[in-house]
Amino acid sequence: MTLSEIQKDLENTYRNVEDEFVNKALPFDLNVKWAALRMEVFFICGLCEYFGCEKIIESGTGFGFSALMFEKYYRGTMVDVVTIDNQPRKPKTEIFKDVVDPVEYLIGDGNVIMPEIISSNADKNIGIFIDGPKGKGAYALAKKCFEYDNVPFVVIHDEGPVLSDNPNKPKEFDGRMICSWEPWFAQRFNYMDIQALDRFNEKGFRHRRWGLKHNLEFTNNCGQGALCILNHNVMT
Ligand SMILES: C[S@@+](CC[C@H](N)C(=O)[O-])C[C@H]1O[C@@H](n2cnc3c(N)ncnc32)[C@H](O)[C@@H]1O
Repeated sequence: MTLSEIQKDLENTYRNVEDEFVNKALPFDLNVKWAALRMEVFFICGLCEYFGCEKIIESGTGFGFSALMFEKYYRGTMVDVVTIDNQPRKPKTEIFKDVVDPVEYLIGDGNVIMPEIISSNADKNIGIFIDGPKGKGAYALAKKCFEYDNVPFVVIHDEGPVLSDNPNKPKEFDGRMICSWEPWFAQRFNYMDIQALDRFNEKGFRHRRWGLKHNLEFTNNCGQGALCILNHNVMT
């Protein structure tokens, strides 16, 4: 399938799972900084649905905010979630206390643990979310994950919109990317994050300032951005 055919199909998938995600994953009132937006987690869940993933691996648990949403959405389903962080102190928060089944929390380096889990679950399609390491390190880890056929996509956090021309991004990913900040997704689903996005805008969020400095325009409210890179084997 071509990239645009996949994107069109994905739009339908998002429509199909939207209500369920909103009802199951969003009803909580936490004012968390430095976490993925709700719509960005939804972006990942829709990709998992579309590619029939039975497992999600997150590198970069942080305070456990994204893990909490995964937990709420996938509780009682066949999908399990593994979250990894190389700093054990962070998830010891009130937020993380709520994260139970189906989330497994591991301490260690995602660069090492992620490939190990992927290779030992070769019979399962696995969705990958990299929220640490960042930048170059995230792209290097994505490349490692794509060595396995059971990884249909990798989502990297904090890579857009103004960073979408990041020189760190390997050229080989061109033509294989779908972005949460594109209007078809962001304008349709940013209602999930109205308060968080207002806060970014009031404070002149750093990416926004960077964008303004470099004369880049923001066309919609979309946060730091989640960049999906598709594996070769899901495309023609
Ligand atoms: C921005 S936070 C993650 C936020 C979280 N995903 C959320 O949305 O709530 C980034 C985390 O990545 C972790 N990290 C950085 N490099 C890592 C690595 N190589 N392996 C595992 N975790 C890493 C950091 O310790 C930090 O807690």
